[in-house]
Amino acid sequence: MFVVVGVSGGIAAYKTVQVVRALVTNGHEVHVVPTEDSLRFVGTATWEAISRHPVTTSVHDDVAEVRHVALGTQADLVIVAPATANTLAKMAAGISDNLLGVTLLATTAPVVVAPAMHTAMWDHAATQANITTLRDRGVYVVGPADGPLTGGDSGPGRMAEPDEIVAEALALVEREPEAPAGDLAGLTVVVSTGGTREPIDPVRYIGNRSSGKQGVAVALAAADRGAYVHLVAAHVDGSVLDTALHHPRIAVERALTAAEMDTAMRAAAGGSDVVVMAAAVADFSVPEVSDVKIRKEDGTVTLDLIENPDILIGLVRERGAGQTIVGFAAETAADEAELQERGIRKRARKGVDLLAVNRVGWQQGFESARNAVLFVDTSDQVTARAEGSKRAVADALWDAVLRLR
Ligand code: CTP
Repeated sequence: MFVVVGVSGGIAAYKTVQVVRALVTNGHEVHVVPTEDSLRFVGTATWEAISRHPVTTSVHDDVAEVRHVALGTQADLVIVAPATANTLAKMAAGISDNLLGVTLLATTAPVVVAPAMHTAMWDHAATQANITTLRDRGVYVVGPADGPLTGGDSGPGRMAEPDEIVAEALALVEREPEAPAGDLAGLTVVVSTGGTREPIDPVRYIGNRSSGKQGVAVALAAADRGAYVHLVAAHVDGSVLDTALHHPRIAVERALTAAEMDTAMRAAAGGSDVVVMAAAVADFSVPEVSDVKIRKEDGTVTLDLIENPDILIGLVRERGAGQTIVGFAAETAADEAELQERGIRKRARKGVDLLAVNRVGWQQGFESARNAVLFVDTSDQVTARAEGSKRAVADALWDAVLRLR
């Protein structure tokens, strides 16, 4: 594989020597592109000896070979380690005043950055905004780790370890298929996930126990099977979205309240082939959200609630030609017969092509990595069942969708 390793000016550059060495040892062709500043930490001679290729920082060398564009276009993978706050800011803005900047603009290969800087610089709103911009653009961020920093301080900002950078970067490329393949290739799908939160005041909300895992599994399964996925995520647990954020065929949009989700889903559904509403949408919201925190001294509080729009019914009403619409239902039921009966009734009430029904309770259905569902379609019968990991249930859902289409 043709790998470009960009090095910007931080003391962690000495650790990048190990990154380059590991890649070369694994048989990859590595070209190092340092910034001028970084040469104060590790010099050209070291990079040339380790990568076994000439090294330059300038856009004006090898002009005849158009080296500045060639590196970017030939690259199968670009790693920037260490990525300083300055280099991240330049990347976010698309500035190309050195060979690294030009290479980054010329490439369509996956880009991995390993930030390294003082905690205060990492925490700064500007750096965080730049990281968000880069992530949204598909850049994969490794680290930074929390630990001792130059100057005796400690905190987040330490560059990830070389073996971690290499492992994550290679895994990223291996995950990226040449061209979409799979039984959902060519389809555009929209999936909602997570639980909406309806604000009461600046610190409180009405929420639910949805972790978002099942909806994210539905999105990942579709993307791995070749579809382009628009994932609309309400609140999800911890790192549930991470894999989806880095999937080359998934675009993630956040929608935190039922109203935001309604707008996002209606916009995304237009022109898509399949819509899956896996989000747990709050059925009610507070019409008059307090601008200040409601306090005990205010006395007894009564919340007036109004019903939220039923997003799924709205999507069915505005359904595009040939579009397949799938809903989820979380039901408490005494037994299997009651679960089926509730599922069949809800399928008809929502007007969807397919309803995935799962049983929930205090100990069942939430936060877990496993799930069990039955599928009801327009024949008003249970046509399939799936039990196992949330990914297995997601794959069964797509099998059922394909049978319908
Ligand atoms: N749903 C929706 N908009 C809402 C509520 C639910 O789009 N305001 C969707 C969910 O995403 C799910 C399906 O409708 O796909 C069923 O959700 P569920 O909560 O089981 O149904 P409800 O209509 O809320 O019915 P219930 O009275 O059983 O709560």
